[in-house]
Amino acid sequence: MTVRVAVNGYGVIGKRVADAVRAMPDMELVGVADVATDWRIRTAVGHGIPVYAATAEAETGMRALGVAAGGLEELLKQVDAVVDTTPKGVAAANLRRYRALGVKAVLQGGEDHPETGHSFVAQANYATAVGRDATRVVSCNTTSIVRILGALRDAGLLVRARGVLIRRATDPWESHLGGVMNTVVPERSIPSHQGPDARTVLPDLDVVTIAAKAAHTQTHNHYWTVQLSREAGREEVLDALESAPRIALIRMADGLVALNTTVELMKDLGRPRGDMWEVAVWEDVLAVEGREAYLTYQVYNEAIVVPESIDAIRALTGIAVSASESIAATDAALGMRKRFLPARERGNTR
Ligand SMILES: NC(=O)c1ccc[n+]([C@@H]2O[C@H](COP(=O)([O-])OP(=O)(O)OC[C@H]3O[C@@H](n4cnc5c(N)ncnc54)[C@H](O)[C@@H]3O)[C@@H](O)[C@H]2O)c1
Repeated sequence: MTVRVAVNGYGVIGKRVADAVRAMPDMELVGVADVATDWRIRTAVGHGIPVYAATAEAETGMRALGVAAGGLEELLKQVDAVVDTTPKGVAAANLRRYRALGVKAVLQGGEDHPETGHSFVAQANYATAVGRDATRVVSCNTTSIVRILGALRDAGLLVRARGVLIRRATDPWESHLGGVMNTVVPERSIPSHQGPDARTVLPDLDVVTIAAKAAHTQTHNHYWTVQLSREAGREEVLDALESAPRIALIRMADGLVALNTTVELMKDLGRPRGDMWEVAVWEDVLAVEGREAYLTYQVYNEAIVVPESIDAIRALTGIAVSASESIAATDAALGMRKRFLPARERGNTR
């Protein structure tokens, strides 16, 4: 069975989800919708992707420029599922339209949990999304938190975790418009929203996050202190992380010493747009002392929610009933890795 998919909002996340849908053997991208007429949406036209106008106001201009083939309603009538990647707050209003037309809807982390009543990270709660009419893929930071803490929890190692998040200022494509320069801006309240948001997926997590915005544009960097349930060695903690999906181990010893080096590595690996869908944990930085583990990792915010969005389509439409089946299909089609460099002897790696 092939699921017919629309993407509404062809921006940072939407264009990546659209490409990922096109890479899946069990999905067909019927079209994308947007309100823009500039280079961003005309790139989609150039890729041969049918483009639709997302609003009545946008339709006149988009039709006049020959960009749009029709309106959103026409697109929605042809699909089983829509991934709504519009700016924060727009999708909540769209949800009524999707529901009225019986189209399964995947929202993103800019929307609030109550809009769909379900928040999604594939490895944590795929099963509870199966057959629902809608879900929300949580934000980039929250997705990483659920992957990492979920892996430690599943290994029986996690009691509680406290994390500091250094966030990118703005996305590269719009960095001429704003962002912070030569400073760091702490969030105004503690906890920052990501910790509580992780509990929309894993309600029993004992987690607190503190966040700040820094003066770079690519990727977030997290620092965690994790209280373990018992004394465990580094190997055990690393094994728990390595055996979970979508977590890759990287090493300072390989020259991957800062966020920019990993960004460059993704380009050299030939990743589309230089994307990293995995959470990259620094293996040779991770330390354990008694019942505490300390770690740092990198989150490629523009890409991490893409595989989750693909899995959410499979869960809602029921074309894969288990998380492992869907994750395996997504990861194989995208080319997800556990290690980015040829392996060394294990004895030399940690
Ligand atoms: N950028 C990130 O790093 C990131 C990471 C994870 C999740 N998210 C979430 O993904 C969602 C999309 O964010 P983004 O960064 O891709 O935004 P974006 O601004 O890059 O893209 C949004 C796109 O939607 C279009 N649009 C605007 N109004 C519209 C409307 N009414 N109907 C249809 N299209 C419309 C815009 O023209 C643009 O192309 C948000 O919920 C955001 O919180 C973003």
